[in-house]
Amino acid sequence: MKTALVTGANRGIGFEIVRQLADRDFAVWLTARNKKRGTEALLELKNQGRSIRFLELDVSDTESIANAVKSLKGDINRLDVLINNAGINPKGSDNILSVPADKLEETFRINSIGPLWLTQACESLLISGSRVINISSGAGEICNGMGSYSPVYSASKTALNAITCQLAHGLRAKGVLVNAVCPGWVRTDMGGAGATRSVEKGAETPVWMATDPGFSETGKFFRDMKAVSW
Ligand SMILES: NC(=O)c1ccc[n+]([C@@H]2O[C@H](COP(=O)([O-])OP(=O)(O)OC[C@H]3O[C@@H](n4cnc5c(N)ncnc54)[C@H](OP(=O)(O)O)[C@@H]3O)[C@@H](O)[C@H]2O)c1
Repeated sequence: MKTALVTGANRGIGFEIVRQLADRDFAVWLTARNKKRGTEALLELKNQGRSIRFLELDVSDTESIANAVKSLKGDINRLDVLINNAGINPKGSDNILSVPADKLEETFRINSIGPLWLTQACESLLISGSRVINISSGAGEICNGMGSYSPVYSASKTALNAITCQLAHGLRAKGVLVNAVCPGWVRTDMGGAGATRSVEKGAETPVWMATDPGFSETGKFFRDMKAVSW
């Protein structure tokens, strides 16, 4: 049975990715920074007949990452799919000239550095063919001229894209595939009720990338199952 771990999976796109991977017979670790919220999410999916496990994991905290990965290594010796999904787009960070230092740091810790820390911690579990999938955003696209939308969030996703490229280089010799995905504008707490996409659609490309046996790309940025410019 293939194995997967998804961060920030107690709600939104991460929760839906867990549901879809479990339905495709993956052994999935649903992780969340808050134990109560995470176990409630786990219960909801288990009640629908799926076998999923929970791990408490705050991606902005190296100790939390170390504890979660230690526990994971007690159960498995191979991780086929790591999905760095957790993210924030905090209110009050919409002015690049006056964003408070703590908000700036928190956004980059969760959106950009956390995925790198967790991938480092999981490295020994990743094998040839394993996939690291970083949930990024079109807001971080820089090639087509970045707009003024949510500047700190956008910059943190550009940083995540750069980290994706560097991890792809760093893990290439091992045969591990590392890519970024934009899920589109999705109806979640972050995307809001007016967003154009369902969570099912938002999860589509990450789940395809996680499960398609023929997938062999690395160091790229995808939307709607196609590579797009950074
Ligand atoms: N929705 C969109 O339109 C859209 C568009 C482009 C990209 N994205 C990206 O898609 C991903 C998922 O977004 P979403 O729309 O599902 O957002 P969401 O509904 O706000 O869910 C975000 C998830 O991340 C978790 N999280 C936040 N900080 C964390 C931390 N330090 N450690 C672990 N988990 C943490 C949250 O946990 P709590 O419940 O504990 O807060 C929650 O489970 C994000 O990376 C986002 O940037 C979303």
